[in-house]
Amino acid sequence: METKLLNPTEIKVAAEIIKRGGVVAFPTETVYGLGADATNVGAIEKVFDVKGRPAQNPLIVHFESLDDLFARIPEMNDNTKKVLLKVKEALTVVIPRPEWIPAVVSAGLNTVAVRVPACEFARSFIKACGVPLAAPSANVSGRPSPTRWQHVHSDLKGKIDAMFKCNPTRIGVESTVIKVLPDKIQVLRLGGICTLQLEKIMPVEIVGGAKESPGTQFKHYAPTCKMVVAKHGSDMTTRIQQYIKDKRATVLHWQSSSTDYGSKTIFLGKTPAAITRNLYAAIRRAEKSSDIIVCEGFPETAKYETLNERVVRAAEGVII
Ligand code: TXA
Ligand code: MG
Repeated sequence: METKLLNPTEIKVAAEIIKRGGVVAFPTETVYGLGADATNVGAIEKVFDVKGRPAQNPLIVHFESLDDLFARIPEMNDNTKKVLLKVKEALTVVIPRPEWIPAVVSAGLNTVAVRVPACEFARSFIKACGVPLAAPSANVSGRPSPTRWQHVHSDLKGKIDAMFKCNPTRIGVESTVIKVLPDKIQVLRLGGICTLQLEKIMPVEIVGGAKESPGTQFKHYAPTCKMVVAKHGSDMTTRIQQYIKDKRATVLHWQSSSTDYGSKTIFLGKTPAAITRNLYAAIRRAEKSSDIIVCEGFPETAKYETLNERVVRAAEGVII
């Protein structure tokens, strides 16, 4: 199949493709998503198929606005609404699945994950489609999520109907997935919204495991070459220097200077936000010219919790 490359002005063209049951990659504030009409079973099946996504891993349904979400799911409880009104980006809530959302979207679960992107472009696109869009990240299953259109292109060209060529995404990791209980917020997947921010609203409990959070059981964010994470600490630089001797390595660094390593390096950024924005692009760049990627680890604090989780998963748990 030929994948149409669309400019940001071509929202109408893309919306027509969605209405006909096609799949289109589009940017959000977190990462690029692969959108399909959330009410069209055939289109949803295509999404699972082109990504090579396990059928047990449910999708997130994206709405054009909170008004639209609340109107289409009027039974949503007030506590959940309250959180959505307070946190307006990079947040996904898991709620009971209304009947009009087909079970395949949720991998057969009786819950569904919903979110309203903060990205204006994404919202205009969803609005033009006239239906909510089921959209996983627009990468081949297991790979780092795409934060640039080039990543989508390299993973999915020839497999999807169309994709937008827009700017790099602002946040750079996926949304935080939560469930709002009467007395606490359960975090099912760490993401772009820090738990510190959620704690201002209600007590937070981080839960993992395949039952609550089906996506966590699958391989994720993996580069095509080996990757390791150096545990953060005062001797981190010397540990990495020792480790990369005689290896064709690229070091992803944020703390040490690039001249500390006699190898290729990619600077991730200084702040957690900057590092987050650059991480997946850096992994995708590094894998092209290295046998091994070594990532400087991060402090074990809440501000770095999503980064720590992502790099450790990308490294399949290998810490030096
Ligand atoms: O930022 C994002 O969330 C991006 C953009 C495109 O919106 N989307 C994204 O989707 O990352 P995906 O499919 O790559 O990840 C969806 C996550 C998975 O971890 C999945 O297990 C979880 O959401 N999820 C979806 N529905 C769920 C449900 N009913 N219960 C628990 N977890 C659910
Ligand atoms: Mg994904």
